[in-house]
Amino acid sequence: MAWDHGYFSATSYTCGAYRELAPAWLDFAALLKGHQPPRGHEGEAFSYLELGSGMGFGLCLLAAAYPEGQFTGIDFQPDHIVHSRRLAQRLGLANISFQEADFLSLAASPGPLSAAHHYVVAHGIATWISEPIQAALLQLASAALTPGGILYCSYNTFPGWLAATAYQHLADELRRGGAHSGQTLKGAAERLTGLLGSTEAPSALAQAQPALRAKLAQIPNQNAAYVLQEYGNEGWQPIYVADLHRRCATHKLRFHASATLPENFLDLLPANVRPAVLAETDPGLRQSLQDLAINQSFRRDLFLRGVAFSTDSELRQRISGVMLRLLEAPATESYVFTTSFGQVSGAVERYRQLEQGLTGGPRSFGQLLEDTGIALPELAKTVSLLLHSGRIGFDRCACADFNRARQVNDQLLELILDGRPYDHLLAPGSGGAVVFSLVEALILDGQRRHLGGQELEQHLQQGLAGRGRSLQGEAAEKLTAFAERQPRLQALGVLP
Ligand SMILES: C[S@@+](CC[C@H](N)C(=O)[O-])C[C@H]1O[C@@H](n2cnc3c(N)ncnc32)[C@H](O)[C@@H]1O
Repeated sequence: MAWDHGYFSATSYTCGAYRELAPAWLDFAALLKGHQPPRGHEGEAFSYLELGSGMGFGLCLLAAAYPEGQFTGIDFQPDHIVHSRRLAQRLGLANISFQEADFLSLAASPGPLSAAHHYVVAHGIATWISEPIQAALLQLASAALTPGGILYCSYNTFPGWLAATAYQHLADELRRGGAHSGQTLKGAAERLTGLLGSTEAPSALAQAQPALRAKLAQIPNQNAAYVLQEYGNEGWQPIYVADLHRRCATHKLRFHASATLPENFLDLLPANVRPAVLAETDPGLRQSLQDLAINQSFRRDLFLRGVAFSTDSELRQRISGVMLRLLEAPATESYVFTTSFGQVSGAVERYRQLEQGLTGGPRSFGQLLEDTGIALPELAKTVSLLLHSGRIGFDRCACADFNRARQVNDQLLELILDGRPYDHLLAPGSGGAVVFSLVEALILDGQRRHLGGQELEQHLQQGLAGRGRSLQGEAAEKLTAFAERQPRLQALGVLP
């Protein structure tokens, strides 16, 4: 058997950063369902392990945002590890290390990883690998957690991925005997599109799987590195929620909550399916009914190795200390949230009242409880929807190292200008990252060279042209948009 066990290892993965992997987010999601998080309070030292850390970009940002944490990334692709280590070194991070290792051999002998971590995360892995490797991943995750620790595991689920399995199957058949490339995957999408008939006269397949046409149309426009590692794996197999939860349970990992925050509030389900889901009293079966009803395609599940349930008063005390802040959202007339349950509308007055409470600066959940008079369960739901929509975030100003963050962001800006495919900067104020484009990096670079007006526009256009890119839209509009965004980025500590 090849060293990659059929995982697509010919090219590297994308450089993503995901807010749900931040300790503050994981703690909040765990608290929503009554688990006392593994850290006693924000700022307490902790240990964090990422299994399948890919290019290490997201983990490096987390290590920079949480200087009190100790971070380890594990991946078996040597090109991923060399990239990760060099990035960590370039960013001057001393609280992170990367190890080139295979889940299979580590599960058999986890050594110093054993029971040492408060958080273990595996983002986008469990359903991209074959079943024996998945079993090793879960065994290793469980072994690496300290009792009371949290495992975050995200994965592709049925029924949402049913349509795409036809595509992955055909792509795999066409690949047999050769290696996958962006071209083979595009070719497979074209071949399958040819089997769908026209929109006016759809084939039997298109009638049975109406979502397939749109899914195939997306493939040529998606990031090639993503498409290859999404569909190019021999072991790729989405899974129904109950099956994954059962497999986790055999490794002492109990499902607890979702890091997709709205999914913790089943009363947000659409009215046409809500009664049928809520009528089920068995929590496991209820998760299955929920996923079937919403055609779930991706879950971000939290599992616990040992539950530390809180009493109502402990929960109130702990959640009251959670610090929240406004992020970058502009004022709005309506609060409509896009969730996996569909569009959810919030009562405008309540959401506005809460956001106004934060306009003067960060407030704790407890202060918001007092200010707004909203009952705790309702406030938890309101806050969860605002966090999910990205309008608010956690506040980490008391623990963040702003000087270090500035050095990290200066390095990242240089790397973006040098052509690295990074599109996030560190936001120490919120303990996360913000999207930051090459266009914005060029404008900032021009500003730092004291360029203005037309000179700055030229700097932007020439900078893009020199990197083989062209400007989408007007240069002047980009400058205005960046000038509007700049104060919000400064408030978050992204820019000085
Ligand atoms: C889809 S990528 C996700 C990477 C990263 N978590 C992210 O979201 O950017 C899956 C990762 O798992 C790693 N991987 C797959 N099988 C592995 C194994 N048996 N042992 C260690 N790493 C593995 C791959 O190299 C790849 O980096």
